[in-house]
Amino acid sequence: MLSDATVLVTGGAGFIGSHIVMRALKENARKVIVIDNFVAGKHKNLRNVARDKKLEIIPGDVRDVEVIQPLVKQSDVVFHEAASKLVVSLKTPRIDLGTNIVGTFNILEAAKGTNVRIIHASTGSVLGSADKPMPENHLPEPTTLYGISKLTAEKYCLFYAREFGVRVSVLRYFHVYGPHQDYHGEAGVVNIFLSRVLGGEPPVIYGTGEQIRCFTYVEDNVDANILVAFQEDTVGEVYNLASRARVTVKDLAEMIIEKYASEKMEPVYAPARQGENLRPIPDTEKIEGLGFKEKMAFEEGLEITKRWIEKDIQEDSYY
Ligand SMILES: NC(=O)c1ccc[n+]([C@@H]2O[C@H](COP(=O)([O-])OP(=O)(O)OC[C@H]3O[C@@H](n4cnc5c(N)ncnc54)[C@H](O)[C@@H]3O)[C@@H](O)[C@H]2O)c1
Repeated sequence: MLSDATVLVTGGAGFIGSHIVMRALKENARKVIVIDNFVAGKHKNLRNVARDKKLEIIPGDVRDVEVIQPLVKQSDVVFHEAASKLVVSLKTPRIDLGTNIVGTFNILEAAKGTNVRIIHASTGSVLGSADKPMPENHLPEPTTLYGISKLTAEKYCLFYAREFGVRVSVLRYFHVYGPHQDYHGEAGVVNIFLSRVLGGEPPVIYGTGEQIRCFTYVEDNVDANILVAFQEDTVGEVYNLASRARVTVKDLAEMIIEKYASEKMEPVYAPARQGENLRPIPDTEKIEGLGFKEKMAFEEGLEITKRWIEKDIQEDSYY
């Protein structure tokens, strides 16, 4: 249980990390430490808990051994969410490599010889695409540098678990959505489409729109992190983590227009993006075997996210 644990959340001011932080505080963690270099993280993601005395926010970088090492050593559980995302890997691959590989290596090295439990956030991008749902042991064929750096980090995790007894498990996330996800960027299609439609702009579909996504609500993702953290037989294992929702990008655009557009509009089509996977669909039986089942229905999660975006846009225009 998280109660009485010292919890470190790397990337804790980001989208998923901030939800893990809030959950850990809600579940009475003794202390929750966030390390984030704020390249993508935002203080406002943590504002609901900012006054909680059990929360410590450290502006810092997972690439910096001096900073990360003592934080790992004083923790009981580490949720390692800090990462450079796909767009960074396209523009500045050296940063992607440093954060995703060296940053993860630093955490694993610091954990050697300790009892700390690590849940490492990986991604379906390590796998690629296939006609059938891909189990964890599907041959990984990443199509981006981001996928390559995250796959390498996975390999480090599994090696450190096997060879050095580091208590790390790997969760591969797929298309997480919900409040706090950046809607200005180029990732997070649910939030991007919602914000465009709410602003009176049509969603932009890259490619045909036939690409399938298995959207997973962020709180379900947090549930799975906690579930795995407290099952010892998950150490050294990889789990695909996704909901059973299957939606094409085209259907998503049409659904959001139908539900939320204030005037008639059609999606706009643009050329396909480099390395985009058309069917990045996982087989999720392994994590379901641990008891994971998503709680959030897609349309309900969409509505919650839409309300959050509306509020966020309103606040931004106020300040
Ligand atoms: N959101 C998704 O759909 C999704 C899908 C697959 C995998 N993931 C993985 O989940 C994790 C969290 O992703 P997210 O969507 O919350 O992204 P995010 O960008 O919102 O969060 C990542 C956080 O890490 C921080 N960060 C980046 N580089 C850092 C560094 N060198 N040192 C310290 N902090 C740093 C950022 O400032 C940010 O707050 C990542 O590991 C990502 O690869 C996310």
